[in-house]
Formats: sequence, C-alpha cells, structure tokens
Amino acid sequence: MVKRNCNIAKVKGQYLFPRIARYKAELLKREPSANVISLGIGDTTEPLTPAVAFGMKEKLGALTTSEGYTGYGEEQGDRELRQRIIDDFYPNMFEPEELFIGDGSKPDIGRLQILFGQDVTISVQDPAYPVYVATSVMMGQTGNWNEKEGLYDGITPLSCTPENNFFPDLNRAKRSDLVFFCSPNNPTGAVPTHKQLQDLVDWARANQSIIIYDSAYAGYIRNPALPRTIYEIEGAKECVIETGSLSKLLGFTGVRLGWTIVPKELCFDDGSPVIDDWRQVSCTFFNGACNLAEAGAKTGLSLMALPEARGLTDYYMENAALLKSAMVDIGYEVYSGDNAPFLWVRFPGRDSWEVFEELLNKKHLVTTPGAGFGASGEGFVRFSAFGNREQIREAAARLAD
Ligand code: MLT
Repeated sequence: MVKRNCNIAKVKGQYLFPRIARYKAELLKREPSANVISLGIGDTTEPLTPAVAFGMKEKLGALTTSEGYTGYGEEQGDRELRQRIIDDFYPNMFEPEELFIGDGSKPDIGRLQILFGQDVTISVQDPAYPVYVATSVMMGQTGNWNEKEGLYDGITPLSCTPENNFFPDLNRAKRSDLVFFCSPNNPTGAVPTHKQLQDLVDWARANQSIIIYDSAYAGYIRNPALPRTIYEIEGAKECVIETGSLSKLLGFTGVRLGWTIVPKELCFDDGSPVIDDWRQVSCTFFNGACNLAEAGAKTGLSLMALPEARGLTDYYMENAALLKSAMVDIGYEVYSGDNAPFLWVRFPGRDSWEVFEELLNKKHLVTTPGAGFGASGEGFVRFSAFGNREQIREAAARLAD
C-alpha cells in the first residue's frame, strides 16, 4: 500500500464550494421542484462579448485548415496577448517577459506554492479566498498545530473586520515569508487605499517577505481613487507577485484564462531572480493556455472592445446595487457591493452556517457562509451578485418577503 500524503490529510474538511453544492443537491432531493437561486459561488451567467466570440470563431476557422492550424503555443502565452494585458492594466510597467498567461488565478496560486515549497510561513487575510490556506496546507507549510490558538503556527491569519475597516493591523502582525492579499477582497469586497497598500508594501520589504496579490476582481473597482494593481505602489516590484483573471472580467469562468506577473526585480534571499524559477515551474507544470481562449481574450481586450467588457462588469455591479438596496431596506448590515460583485452581510450573534441553511431551506437562496472563509468570517454571509437580472430581482423579493 502507498502511504497517504500527510499534508493533504491535514486539509480540514471538503473544499468550500463543493460542500455548498452538496447542500443544494440535498435540498433538491427533498424538494425536486424548488426554484433554487444561486448567490453562492461567484459564477458568471451572461454570454461572452461579441468581440470575444469574433476572436474565437476566427481562430477556430483557422484551426480547421492546414495553413491555419497551430499546435502548442508559446509556453508563457501568446506574446501579443501578454502585451495587450500590460497595455490595458499595467501601462508601461512591465515587459511581456514578466507576464505569464495561465488557465486562471486559482491554478496559478496552486503552482506558486510549488515555487516556494514547504519551508515557508504564510500570512493571509482573514477572511479570504480559501485556496490560499488550502494550497499552503497541501504544500506542508503548516508548522506545528497550536492547540491553544486552534491554528497551525506556520499560517498567520490577519483579521479583517468592520472594526479595523477590513485592513489588518500590520504593527501587531507576525512576520511571515509569504503574505496572501486579495483586492477587492473575496469575500468582504474591501479595497485598500494607496496609503494602506503602501503600508503593506513597506511592511513586506522591511520583513523581506513576498506578497502574493490576487487582483481577480480588480475590474469591478468603480472608485477611481482606489488602486487597481499593487504595482501602482512604490517598491512593489521588489516584493510582489500579482495574479489576474479573466473569469469575472470577460466571463471566462468556463473558458479559463488568467495571468501572473513576476517582476524581474523580485529576488530570493540568495539574490537569484524569482522569475527564473517561476518560468521553470510554470513551463514544467503547464503547457500553455488554450489557443481559442487566448484568441478570444486578444480581441475581447482590444481597446475598441473594452467598453463591451465594462458593460459585462457593469451588469453584475447593477445586480449588486439592486440586492444591496433591497437588503438595506430590510435592515441588513451590508458591507461592500460598490467596488466588488459581492455583498458581505453581518448577522450579529448568528452562526454563519446556520444562516446559510436558513436562507437555503426557507428562501431557496444559495449563499456562502462567512466562516468558510476564515474565523473572522463567522457571523457573516456572502451574497454573490453574479446571476441574471430576473433571478436577482426574484432573490431580492424573497429576502424582503
Ligand atoms: C468564489 O465564489 O469565491 C469564486 O468564484 C470561486 C473561484 O473563483 O474559485
């Protein structure tokens, strides 16, 4: 018999979203005719933009001819697409060599853990997207189990609640090698200011830490005064790896495409550039993104097509505004919804799984319990604003009922 990987065995419970899907499946078994509305996993519902469809169709046409057929693409991703992403989101900040196209933020976060191995400690916003902690535990970055704290001592939660305006108290935070940070934060929707991000970068540099900055929802930031990428901050190139995604920006949750930026300036403690190791890891574990997805992204992100992409994110932000206004009218304590497609709602004194079950069983609404994102998420529930308008209106009506 083969010995089980003890690090995988350390992961506590099933991954959050399949667990939620199981609750929904059980409800449908009990009540097959229930009209369940999903405000749970942030999954896009609206069609691909015409520009994306145009690029994909053209590429598909080419692939079906001997002259136009292509096999493996450039390992780091189509160069023209890399340049386009830089022009759109990081103008004049990077060379295409510093950007790696992948199949989404989540798989890249998993592969980034391979880059660092097991001998690193991590800090993570609490609450946060569960993938940061789960992949870290799988990699063995846990240290010892601290019974008193109920935590592995290699993983430090940075509590982010309404009381600290969803930004951790860095003066009291323990040093760690890696710091996972997500803006807009999933699930709270909080977006740090330039000053807060400058404090984070200064803190990381003083501690010689590397920040892994997930900007998957940056396309939803509507306040022009807020930073869309951490590379707007001085010193960030020396301490940050940023991941980005087209899942929520162009409706690519099924198509799959994302990217990771590793600046040339970022080095390990022995002076070697992190980008060299990332190229090695990425080209070994990944064979390049789907060429149809890349073709769609190239046309979908062209300057002329950007208003279409904006229309898509506006649609979900209008959903968020509609849901938020209904919830505020009922008297719910709602955070976010202005710069992110999530509503983070406090149910004082309540257990978040209990509220989740109540909403599911009584209103047939799937949400995500805050505790699933970390201990500081207890007492909160996340409502996703992804969905078609009719369903969002119906969900708002059910909440008010
Ligand atoms: C979420 O709902 O948090 C995300 O959509 C899930 C994911 O991107 O994996």
